[in-house]
Amino acid sequence: MTSPRLEDRFLRRINYLRVSVTDRCNLRCTYCMPAGGVAPLGHGEVLSYEEILRVARVALSLGIEKIRITGGEPLVRRGILGFLERVAALPGLKDLSLTTNGILLKEMAGALRRAGLRRVNVSLDTLRPEVFERVARRPGLERVLAGIDAARDAGLSPLKINVVAMRGVNDDEVLDFAEFARARDCEVRFIEFMPARRDAWDSGSLLPAAEILSVLSSRYALVPTEAEGISGPCRTYLLPGGGRVGVISPMSDHFCGTCNRLRLTAEGKLRSCLFSDRQVDLRRILRSSAEDDRALEACIREAVHHKPERHAASDPSAEQCGLSMSRVGG
Ligand code: GTP
Ligand code: 5AD
Ligand code: SF4
Repeated sequence: MTSPRLEDRFLRRINYLRVSVTDRCNLRCTYCMPAGGVAPLGHGEVLSYEEILRVARVALSLGIEKIRITGGEPLVRRGILGFLERVAALPGLKDLSLTTNGILLKEMAGALRRAGLRRVNVSLDTLRPEVFERVARRPGLERVLAGIDAARDAGLSPLKINVVAMRGVNDDEVLDFAEFARARDCEVRFIEFMPARRDAWDSGSLLPAAEILSVLSSRYALVPTEAEGISGPCRTYLLPGGGRVGVISPMSDHFCGTCNRLRLTAEGKLRSCLFSDRQVDLRRILRSSAEDDRALEACIREAVHHKPERHAASDPSAEQCGLSMSRVGG
């Protein structure tokens, strides 16, 4: 019998699946999409919840333990609460989370918790309304802040805020975000700006994690935390008086050597690296073999087998993520 553990050629154990449930979004962040948005997938092109659940079940049977729901913006997809309830009940699942832009969180936080979700990560790049509108191309800062409070009140914990750090945009907000983390006793993670859309990225806008840490250290004595649970790419530090800050450094200090993840796109393609176009079409398998899961299993193993050793996002001539982040799910 083959082992259920998914392991790639570089002996990395793959136990984390990120699932994008929709390519649609109620914001238009400059680093993610062009101003007019991206042509939306047709309804038949997006995996049904039933199909996603089938993939999740098979993936869990092969050793996946952690699932994150992403988008686009996952909360805009109709029926998301019922879907989450079903995912939360899947046997073998140790950690379920969701990444949201927070626009709909105020209304939905309580229902998300009741559906079985334990925690959320909220994307928020600035605490200034005019910068928010410039980056997201829509207003909404007040709503996101209210959403963050609602998530905390609903008991969604730990609460993590993702900040894409961009020089010239929000580099002067590092300490404000640290104060935000202390005041709300949450975790703020600064993510290095990645060239997902090459035309919206230049190396000058990259704010390296080392620089962010040096700004933070100028004010606080940072205490590194131990990795807990199924660890991810974030290096996290306790702040004095409460809250945490973290850095995710895909560009300056990539964490590919310990990467444990697979990604399922909204249209049912399985990708083993955010920056590789190589993908396996699970939708075709799902729709051609309604009963037998063996073909699905084989495809998941194939994607794991071809997981590249590392990404080359910093190399302008190298392969890049050819899809909008809104389809891959960040
Ligand atoms: P936790 O389990 O809460 O630690 O979440 P996470 O860090 O796995 O998920 P989250 O969606 O909050 O990830 C934060 C961001 O880090 C992502 O949205 C990406 O921008 C970036 N990131 C996550 N995984 C990868 C990865 O495999 N490669 C690269 N280059 N960036 C990643
Ligand atoms: N660079 C870094 N992070 C990005 N995200 C989306 N695009 C990029 C990028 N180019 C992040 C979002 C969100 C997550 C899903 O991915 O801010 O936190
Ligand atoms: Fe929407 Fe997230 Fe893309 Fe912003 S980064 S447009 S919130 S999917």
